[in-house]
Amino acid sequence: MKRLCCIAGLFASAVVWAMAAPAAAGQAPQAAPPPTKNDVQTCLQCHDQEPVNLVLQTPHAVKADARTPFAQQQCETCHGASAAHVEVAGTPVAVVYKGPKRSPVAQRNAVCLSCHEAGLRTHWTGSQHESRGVACNDCHTIHARTQPVLSKATQAQVCFTCHKTQRAQIRRISAHPLAVTSLASTAKMSCSDCHNPHGSTGPKLLKKNSVNETCYTCHAEKRGPFLWEHAPVVDDCTNCHTPHGSNNAPLLKARAPWLCQECHSGDHGAQVNSGANLATGAATTINGMQQPGAAAPRAQMGARACLNCHVLVHGSNHPAGAKFQR
Ligand code: HEC
Ligand code: HEC
Ligand code: HEC
Ligand code: HEC
Ligand code: HEC
Ligand code: HEC
Ligand code: HEC
Ligand code: HEC
Ligand code: HEC
Ligand code: HEC
Repeated sequence: MKRLCCIAGLFASAVVWAMAAPAAAGQAPQAAPPPTKNDVQTCLQCHDQEPVNLVLQTPHAVKADARTPFAQQQCETCHGASAAHVEVAGTPVAVVYKGPKRSPVAQRNAVCLSCHEAGLRTHWTGSQHESRGVACNDCHTIHARTQPVLSKATQAQVCFTCHKTQRAQIRRISAHPLAVTSLASTAKMSCSDCHNPHGSTGPKLLKKNSVNETCYTCHAEKRGPFLWEHAPVVDDCTNCHTPHGSNNAPLLKARAPWLCQECHSGDHGAQVNSGANLATGAATTINGMQQPGAAAPRAQMGARACLNCHVLVHGSNHPAGAKFQR
């Protein structure tokens, strides 16, 4: 799909150039809506340098596609009718996207939304980004061969210009395989695998209606159904995990036993003999009592702590798995 777009883009710029010659020679171009006086060639008299002319190599310049700006008023589809700009030096175009003279956010966004309101943008109005005055072109780069925000390897950097906290979190030892500076070329995921930055019906701009529904899109096995469910897992994965990064693998908010002890008291109600099958031997009881002289750490603390025994914290399908031991 991506490839096709690029090829189409390259083809399109060839079309733009091919059509330019006869137009300059005085023949009327055949494209559907009549171009304004200031066609792309007029603009390129002064703006034929990178990055401005790179827009000719993008899907926006596919002249054969009637939906694109270049099949309509060309540059002026986005920048507005700008006769004065061409004639009087120093007069800005009708819609400026960058720099000190930039137009109000709502005006800029309205241009993009005139073609892109549907699909992923259904919930744009009232979304966190819209209501905080973020512009489409804070994330999107129109005058570029490929937009950094659309590629897994470079997207996070765009978000990090505003979201410094997540930048720090993603560099922790346990994280989702997002682009982290040196790993950029092997990035398997991007922020938009979990978030829809254009707006959503879920919390925190998540793609799905809840945290768990979002996680299940990739971690389907955690959905169950389980014969024995663990209440905090069904409730919200972020009871124990942090999505962006942690110093406790795998993406845990805290290490066991402390993680578990946030909700469970440290000692078991019943005293359970334990540890016989552990490297340290049968030196402890499960309620944390340690026999005199025992060198081994308590079973609740050593090695994988609670997870030494409660191996299936996400839920169990074993008839005798009520305590998530099997
Ligand atoms: C006669 C030369 C000339 C032509 C023709 C021309 N521009 Fe410009 N344009 C300029 C100059 C010079 C600047 C820098 C102006 C400034 O910094 O104040 C500029 C700046 C811009 C900017 C940056 C925002 C701004 O206004 O400062 C945009 C966008 C732009 N032009 C779009 C267009 C479009 C679209 C066309 C065709 C309709 C066009 N230009 C035709 C000379 C031209
Ligand atoms: C006149 C209609 C029109 C306007 C205005 C318009 N676009 Fe587009 N845009 C399109 C069409 C058509 C495509 C190609 C879609 C396709 O191939 O399915 C496209 C493609 C895109 C893409 C995907 C590019 C890619 O490389 O895959 C992005 C992102 C985008 N537009 C953002 C914007 C933004 C941001 C603005 C405002 C600055 C804007 N568009 C203005 C019609 C428009
Ligand atoms: C906070 C950053 C951000 C903002 C603001 C933003 N986008 Fe996007 N946009 C993205 C990302 C990330 C993707 C890639 C989404 C994906 O891969 O699921 C994308 C994809 C797109 C696409 C191509 C995919 C599709 O839907 O066909 C279009 C078109 C687009 N955005 C238009 C817009 C428009 C119009 C606005 C303003 C109303 C806007 N975007 C605002 C980040 C943003
Ligand atoms: C799809 C909408 C769209 C079209 C079509 C478009 N532009 Fe732009 N233009 C933008 C946006 C958005 C920016 C802000 C920078 C960016 O996203 O690359 C911009 C920035 C500019 C700038 C300022 C560059 C800078 O870095 O300050 C100039 C000059 C410009 N455009 C000229 C043109 C010319 C000439 C054409 C036609 C060949 C054109 N634009 C077509 C949306 C568009
Ligand atoms: C131009 C700055 C800017 C950029 C770029 C940006 N954001 Fe945001 N983002 C904001 C602002 C402002 C908020 C409002 C909440 C706040 O105060 O942090 C926000 C909020 C969010 C929220 C939380 C919503 C909530 O309910 O608290 C998420 C998730 C988010 N952005 C994701 C992204 C992603 C993903 C990207 C990159 C594709 C991105 N943002 C790019 C400015 C930005
Ligand atoms: C694996 C899924 C996932 C990925 C990938 C992801 N996020 Fe999130 N993000 C979440 C979840 C779930 C939440 C809400 C729970 C939370 O705040 O811990 C969230 C919350 C946020 C918030 C709001 C934080 C707050 O305290 O309100 C921002 C901002 C944000 N994410 C930005 C990003 C950015 C930027 C990226 C890419 C670098 C990204 N996220 C990647 C799942 C993800
Ligand atoms: C777009 C797919 C996707 C989504 C959505 C997703 N993950 Fe992941 N997750 C992955 C991938 C890929 C890995 C890395 C697996 C690997 O390295 O083998 C991973 C790994 C993990 C790990 C193990 C990390 C480690 O250090 O081994 C945890 C825990 C995790 N995800 C939790 C979550 C939670 C919680 C959510 C929801 C907020 C979520 N994931 C959403 C794809 C996803
Ligand atoms: C009660 C705390 C808790 C909750 C809630 C929780 N997890 Fe976990 N998760 C853990 C612990 C502890 C581990 C490490 C297990 C181990 O080392 O054997 C883990 C490991 C993982 C792993 C990596 C290893 C594996 O089993 O694949 C993934 C992926 C994961 N969790 C996803 C999720 C998802 C998705 C949710 C929400 C549906 C979730 N977790 C809810 C505690 C929790
Ligand atoms: C966010 C709070 C929370 C966290 C963190 C948590 N749990 Fe739970 N756990 C619960 C709740 C609530 C129940 C259901 C209690 C009930 O049904 O009486 C439960 C049930 C259990 C049960 C079965 C209890 C029974 O009586 O059947 C075991 C075993 C258990 N958890 C182990 C763990 C372990 C091991 C960890 C750490 C990896 C952990 N839990 C982390 C809240 C939590
Ligand atoms: C050496 C194995 C072992 C370790 C380590 C262990 N447990 Fe257990 N746990 C058990 C067994 C066996 C039961 C079942 C007791 C019963 O049925 O009476 C149990 C029961 C539970 C229950 C159910 C309520 C109860 O008291 O019977 C909870 C909650 C629980 N464990 C939490 C934890 C937490 C939290 C940790 C870590 C601090 C932990 N366990 C460490 C073996 C262990």
